Amino acid sequence: MAAFIFFVTMFTLMASTTPRADAAETSAAAVVIRVDQSGKGDYKKIQDAIDAVPSNNKQPFFILVKPGIYNEKIIVPEDKPFITVSGSKTNSTVITRNDSGNIIESATFTVLASNFVGQYITIKNTFRYHGIQAVALRVSGDKVVFLGCKILGYQDTLLDENGRHYFRGCYIEGAVDFICGNAASLFERCHLHTLSEEFSAITAQQRGSLTEETGFIFLGCKITGERTAILGRPWGSYSRVIFVLTYMSNVILPRGWDDWGDATKQSTVFYREYKCYGPGANTSKRVEWSQKLTAEEAKIFLTKNMISGKSWIRSTLKHVKKVSTAISNNSTGHS
Ligand SMILES: *[C@@H]1O[C@H](CO)[C@@H](O)[C@H](O)[C@H]1NC(C)=O
Ligand SMILES: *[C@@H]1O[C@H](CO)[C@@H](O)[C@H](O)[C@H]1NC(C)=O
Ligand SMILES: *[C@@H]1O[C@H](CO)[C@@H](O)[C@H](O)[C@H]1NC(C)=O
Ligand SMILES: *[C@@H]1O[C@H](CO)[C@@H](O)[C@H](O)[C@H]1NC(C)=O
Ligand SMILES: *[C@@H]1O[C@H](CO)[C@@H](O)[C@H](O)[C@H]1NC(C)=O
Repeated sequence: MAAFIFFVTMFTLMASTTPRADAAETSAAAVVIRVDQSGKGDYKKIQDAIDAVPSNNKQPFFILVKPGIYNEKIIVPEDKPFITVSGSKTNSTVITRNDSGNIIESATFTVLASNFVGQYITIKNTFRYHGIQAVALRVSGDKVVFLGCKILGYQDTLLDENGRHYFRGCYIEGAVDFICGNAASLFERCHLHTLSEEFSAITAQQRGSLTEETGFIFLGCKITGERTAILGRPWGSYSRVIFVLTYMSNVILPRGWDDWGDATKQSTVFYREYKCYGPGANTSKRVEWSQKLTAEEAKIFLTKNMISGKSWIRSTLKHVKKVSTAISNNSTGHS
């Protein structure tokens, strides 16, 4: 029960977007930049809008992207924090590439900056071949939030590489290890959809030692898919993944988890399920080295909130406007 209260508390605090004056560095109003392929905005390409943000900016920038298919490879560089990229409708604002082979280079969209927010956009890598990496979204910056986005790919769709991240209401689709990396991330009310015709693993979390405060928590999510899948396998020996209050369709195999062919990892990984439901959530045939979250473990998470979220999520979201407000204002960002 303690765990339940903890997660619900965390959920409530993180869901709050009440602005607070605790982010001194971003006290200025956001500059709005519009991207429109028809030429009616400030730029036709998303990357051009990002390039227009000055390095080491202290001011937040809100890049509003009009509907369209953007065949672009996007990089938000490390020295440009406080950028929001926002579509107005997720389905109609699509950033897509077909690139593969290298887990770093293949990404359609790369976030290296901190305090980045992505919302209402679809990010896609159309390359589909079992055994070849093809990343749609790579996130390496700290304090990064994605809201209501679709992240679509096949192998390694979301390289959730480093930093603390919060994904809310996102749809993430892929086949092999499609949420991978060593970030500390909370996925709340996200829909995970597996595609594989062969082996499918939802997560490949990469935590490499006991001292790292990283891992993936899925809270109130939904898992569906084609064929069969497992919840995760360890990219790093101390891989840590927790599913809480999550619906699992029968796409999830009874054994649930895999040790990636290395039995020594069975004693070091931390794979837990808590109050999940649905035909795939029956834990009676799970591998014996994965467990239900105990009240004792929940205490650990109480004192070490894995993404130490509430204050940074609030400050990161402080300048995220409602799209309608951003549209109604007429600033161009070229003052
Ligand atoms: C977006 O597209 C998906 C499938 O293509 C569809 O199921 C969903 O209803 C669409 N959402 C909206 C808001 O149109
Ligand atoms: C992606 O590119 C590969 C070649 O690299 C090609 O075989 C494949 O058909 C392309 N996929 C799409 C959806 O364009
Ligand atoms: C879980 O699976 C076991 C064995 O397959 C079965 O006996 C049990 O009734 C199932 N539990 C639920 C809640 O479906
Ligand atoms: C939009 O402009 C109005 C009036 O110029 C201003 O009061 C309001 O704060 C602006 N909204 C945003 C989100 O900047
Ligand atoms: C927005 O600005 C453009 C030129 O900068 C002007 O032509 C247009 O009338 C403005 N629209 C509104 C709603 O203020």
